[in-house]
Amino acid sequence: MDSYSELKISTHQAEEILYNSYRIKGTAIRLPGYVDYNFKIKTENGDCYILKISRPNADVNYILFLQDILLYLEKNAEELIAPKIVCDKEGNYTSEIFDENKNKQHVRLLTWISGRIWSHVNPRLEGIHFSLGQTCGKITKALQHFEHPQSHIDVEWDTSQSLWTKKYLHLFSDKEREINSYFQNLFEANLETYNQLRKSIVHNDANDYNIIVSEDLVNPEVRSVIDYGDAIYTQIINDVAIACAYAIMDHNDPLEAALPIIKGYHDSFPLQESELEHLYNSIAMRLVISITKSAINKKEFPENEYLLISEKPAWELLNKWRRISPDFAQCTFRSACGFTPHPSEKVFINWTKKNEFKISNLFPSVGKNKLLHLDLSVSSTWIGHRSEFNDLDLFQFKIEQLQKLHADKILSGGYLEPRALYTSTEYDKIGNNGRESRSIHLGIDFWLPVNTAVHALFDGEVVTAVNDVGDKEYGGLVILKHRLEDLEFFTLYGHNTVKSALQHEIGDIIKKGEKIAELGNYPENGNWAPHLHFQVMLSMLDYKIDYPGVAYYSQLDIWKSLCPDPNFLFNSDALISNSDQSNEALITFREKHLGKSLSLQYKVPIKMVRGSGQYMMDQFGRKYLDTVNNVAHVGHEHPDVVKAGQVQMAMINTNSRYLHENINELAQELIKTLPDELNVLHFVNSGSEANELAIRMVKAATGQKDIIASEAGYHGNSNTCIDISSYKFDGAGGKGSPEHTQIFPLPDTFRGKYKGENSGEKYAEEVKHCIDRIHQKGRDVGALIVEPIISCGGQVELPKGFLKKAYSYVREAGGLCISDEVQTGCGRMGKTYWGFQLHDVIPDIVTIGKPLGNGHPLAAVVCTQSVANKFANGMEYFNTFGGNPVSCAIGAEVLKTVDREGLQKHALQIGNYLKDELKKLRVEFPIIGDVRGQGLFLGIELVNKELKPLDLQTSYLANRMKEHGILMSIDGPDHNVLKIKPPLVFSKQNAQDLIFYLQKILSEDFMTSFE
Ligand SMILES: Cc1ncc(COP(=O)(O)O)c(C=O)c1O
Repeated sequence: MDSYSELKISTHQAEEILYNSYRIKGTAIRLPGYVDYNFKIKTENGDCYILKISRPNADVNYILFLQDILLYLEKNAEELIAPKIVCDKEGNYTSEIFDENKNKQHVRLLTWISGRIWSHVNPRLEGIHFSLGQTCGKITKALQHFEHPQSHIDVEWDTSQSLWTKKYLHLFSDKEREINSYFQNLFEANLETYNQLRKSIVHNDANDYNIIVSEDLVNPEVRSVIDYGDAIYTQIINDVAIACAYAIMDHNDPLEAALPIIKGYHDSFPLQESELEHLYNSIAMRLVISITKSAINKKEFPENEYLLISEKPAWELLNKWRRISPDFAQCTFRSACGFTPHPSEKVFINWTKKNEFKISNLFPSVGKNKLLHLDLSVSSTWIGHRSEFNDLDLFQFKIEQLQKLHADKILSGGYLEPRALYTSTEYDKIGNNGRESRSIHLGIDFWLPVNTAVHALFDGEVVTAVNDVGDKEYGGLVILKHRLEDLEFFTLYGHNTVKSALQHEIGDIIKKGEKIAELGNYPENGNWAPHLHFQVMLSMLDYKIDYPGVAYYSQLDIWKSLCPDPNFLFNSDALISNSDQSNEALITFREKHLGKSLSLQYKVPIKMVRGSGQYMMDQFGRKYLDTVNNVAHVGHEHPDVVKAGQVQMAMINTNSRYLHENINELAQELIKTLPDELNVLHFVNSGSEANELAIRMVKAATGQKDIIASEAGYHGNSNTCIDISSYKFDGAGGKGSPEHTQIFPLPDTFRGKYKGENSGEKYAEEVKHCIDRIHQKGRDVGALIVEPIISCGGQVELPKGFLKKAYSYVREAGGLCISDEVQTGCGRMGKTYWGFQLHDVIPDIVTIGKPLGNGHPLAAVVCTQSVANKFANGMEYFNTFGGNPVSCAIGAEVLKTVDREGLQKHALQIGNYLKDELKKLRVEFPIIGDVRGQGLFLGIELVNKELKPLDLQTSYLANRMKEHGILMSIDGPDHNVLKIKPPLVFSKQNAQDLIFYLQKILSEDFMTSFE
């Protein structure tokens, strides 16, 4: 082989060769190439080609082979986009030239396939992986009847010939050698069946640089796989493997990334079960070839970077691949192709149909055969709050109470139940789309007293008998292997006493009916209320003791097949749970019977069934980080708040006409946080109701109806509130500003009427203009209502000096000032407890909503004695629910929790940290025009260079974040502001995760190529 350094062809020479051979004038750009010298050619009229100049004295047969493939495809596979050969001036498919040493070189000109190179596409998600597989499958299909002697030569890149790599093991470190040998040995051990697989000429090189992708930035597709230089007659599965091997590099979970490629291939060219048995190792052997070639080349051509280009990611992938069980991989590949994931699943199920087992055989001392289904799923109301199910004494007590009610039944269930019980991070992994928690329970639990004996249903051999130590592990664990004629399977018995498990030796035979173990108590049983975890497995995979009893939701179909339902043995109707309604059914009902103007969040709506701190969970146990919800102020389902409500609910709930401490206590808790002047309270049930009441107070106190409010402001859903909410009456379905509402421009210093920090005075002047307009109509001012940070307007911070000045104008005109703190109150601002305190003003009325009840409908209006006195004009203010003892107990506990847990300070610290990090992102990503807000009430605005709002990009970002398990919301009149206002328990780690995924998605093509 000639060294690359020996011969160089300049772009000028390439242009000359092009003209001389093809009579085409064009400019040449050098492209990387492993075998040929490649140039992209662009002609004056915009046509593009690829010019390929061979090495001197290259093998003619090889050149002809490449030519014949392309000609064959052109004739036989019209639907396939492949390069076409352009003839030279003499009509030859291949031109010949001679270098200065009279060495012959072959020149070919191919049509250019437009698009983007795979490696330049970001992100590469399921859709593009599928279309890669589909394209490769189409090529294989097209080449089924193509034959060529040149395709049968010895080639190092042919996976079927890959054992040559064994000779080079000495080039690697011990650890690397172990990995290489592992795969080489696996390959060798399975050669017999491998050699019987279907063969064909295949492309054999769908690497990152050979894949051409469409220009669509949101749903890109593979247009073509080019460069047939490595095509070879080999096992078809090798081609699938190569497409996978390159495309799944740089993925946290390469196995998951491979599946759509396999699905796509199978879609165009159906794969066989026997082929899938070899796919795992064929992928590995391609990588082994690649890194062995790199190791050799590193020595031979140290200067050629192209040769080394994929070494590091290949090693990373090989390391990850080594940790994946080959059996598990095979099950997932089978599933991707529509086969039952585990090959023995059907055999097992058929066997259970022919054999009958009784529960009483498993627990003869209990003597019951009836079961009662116990729902421990994430949606279960029986398990209650997390503080309850984490209290094992309480949990056990509840089990015993239930058992008393159903004395003739065994409480049991749990197969494929998504559970929220697994709180340890041991159950988390970072997948290709963010954090994933294991939640799907794979066995059946039988809730029976400690020391209950467990007996064998059938003969078995002990393969595991250990103490699986640790919180939420198995404790005393026994696994038995069972061999039948055409089937081998395993049964697992977890949470026993350690002694009863350890009495067995590996290899012991346990006969049907013999005792296996006795149920343990906490903590020795892994820290659970006593129960047996009973699971069936068709393969041990590579596990010895830590066989998963809980799986990731994304792998449910695989685990369902690997670990079939143990109820196949017992056939108990009680265990067939009537599962939740599907989301589709919920949507259909909503559409028919709920108000049409109720919207749903996200393109694919989520059903939330459980909250915990800053997280929410859907019915499948998928956990979402909530950056949106300032209602769950101290954290979703905060235990103390839940308790406060539950306790009071159990006592009495009535209206505020009776004396009760709770209403006074909540009033007291609020007054503590407010300036002295603001000390009279009215309790209501929503922010809208609070603003509604505030406006009534204004009318009573001033005798005026005219209200001044901000453009893009929102104050609630009632008649009066809509009338003062420009966000609504200036938005879709709105009819513009009513007679008694005066709107001043959104005081947005970034993109508003007046820009820059010093525009506070100018916006205050706009308020003055509103007052003037009211006077011109011969009326006087009622009030100014404004939020301290205008939330629906896009988290717009009021400019310095604005509020003070505006208040003074309004008061001069005899009006009142209302601070709408429905979004901003209760410590969220960090620096101050209330938003108005940021501006050194004291309003006459403050309205409080969302955070006060932490999700319970509770709101309040605070005012001065003077306003309160004027409002009390003889007409009673009665509110059936406002100020009831349950709501007040909850509200008081929320405020105490903010205090006790130091959440205002926390909001300041985490908010400042997050804002600083977001500002760093703004430097890196110019699409972020502005970062603003206070404490944990922040906003990022996406614009182009001319400050044009980028709503599509904002929506893309929010939806992609959701796909990574992070919930974000969009606001602003132009729908281009991402709001961040999480429960205040949002941690620094959460902030770091948020930044990490924002950075990841901001780098994606759709986010970087805006105009
Ligand atoms: C600033 C502001 N005020 C008032 C309201 C109305 O509150 P509610 O939805 O509780 O009636 C909202 C609701 O989003 C709000 O954001």
